Amino acid sequence: MTAAYPHARLRRTRAAAWSRALHRETMLTPADLIWPLFVTEGSGVEEPIASLPGVSRWSFDGIAERAREAVTLGIPCLALFPNTQPGRRSEDGREALNPENLMCQAIRAIRDAVGDGVGILTDVALDPYTSHGQDGLIDEAGYVLNDRTVEVLVGQSLNQAAAGADIIAPSDMMDGRIGAIRAALEDEGYANIQIMAYAAKYASAFYGPFRDAVGSRGLLKGDKKTYQMDPGNSEEALREVALDLAEGADSVMVKPGLPYLDIVRRVKERFEVPVFAYQVSGEYAMIEAAAAAGAGDRDALVLETLLAFKRAGCSGVLTYHAAHAARLLT
Ligand code: PBG
Repeated sequence: MTAAYPHARLRRTRAAAWSRALHRETMLTPADLIWPLFVTEGSGVEEPIASLPGVSRWSFDGIAERAREAVTLGIPCLALFPNTQPGRRSEDGREALNPENLMCQAIRAIRDAVGDGVGILTDVALDPYTSHGQDGLIDEAGYVLNDRTVEVLVGQSLNQAAAGADIIAPSDMMDGRIGAIRAALEDEGYANIQIMAYAAKYASAFYGPFRDAVGSRGLLKGDKKTYQMDPGNSEEALREVALDLAEGADSVMVKPGLPYLDIVRRVKERFEVPVFAYQVSGEYAMIEAAAAAGAGDRDALVLETLLAFKRAGCSGVLTYHAAHAARLLT
């Protein structure tokens, strides 16, 4: 074999900044970002979350302010998560069906502030509403019941749809929920509401700070391994995605993000559909801790990790760094 060198010198195109810009294959823009926000009750309230430094829960006025900020920054979509008051959590999570719950009120506050200037993605799962912190209804042994949970998730989805959600995002990992939710949305006149399925969601150690943020960490007994996926599996992720697409999902999500970029790539290559990833709370906290410890430059770490999602095949990324990244990019 004849050596290509020196005819091929890959460093030629890297030698100058203009050339690197010209040859860059993957771009990151604010339009690639979905910004997760935590909602709490009251007005004028900002509650910092200790395990997610730089992230707070906001009351509705603060949520509306973040929506205006998103519009200014060019962030196209917000994802909402409620910190339900303890008195409103119950064994069956019925607060999820309340048309006046935190999620529904936050949706309306965003609409009042910015109209349809941003998309609103709403999480479907019962963990912010249950007294036991599981994503669904449990039996005496604590096992999460699939079909009965799906019935409640359908009600939760319709409740969010009625409040004005644009994208319903089930994160519960029950079997068959996408089909049931899609059918109900069609029946109730919400044919254009999207479903982004948390299709390949793993039972991960990276969700801790999120559970602090929604107030479920102290309540949760045990783990979520009977419904979230085993981190060792990727064939199974493809089956999950195939089912969710067949049941009517418009897009699919892989979660967590960075440790699962191989799954993003496999899903993208196999299905050629919009794939999103969630850079979850523990990943955010890890980057912040690394930067605080002087292990790397914060801004560079943020932009490099977000670009990696795009390179792996993502259409967009849910990230707590969304506003910061958008500011760096504009
Ligand atoms: C709840 C839900 C979780 C996250 C999003 N939706 C946590 C969990 O499954 O326990 C995690 C997001 C994050 O860690 O940032 N169904």
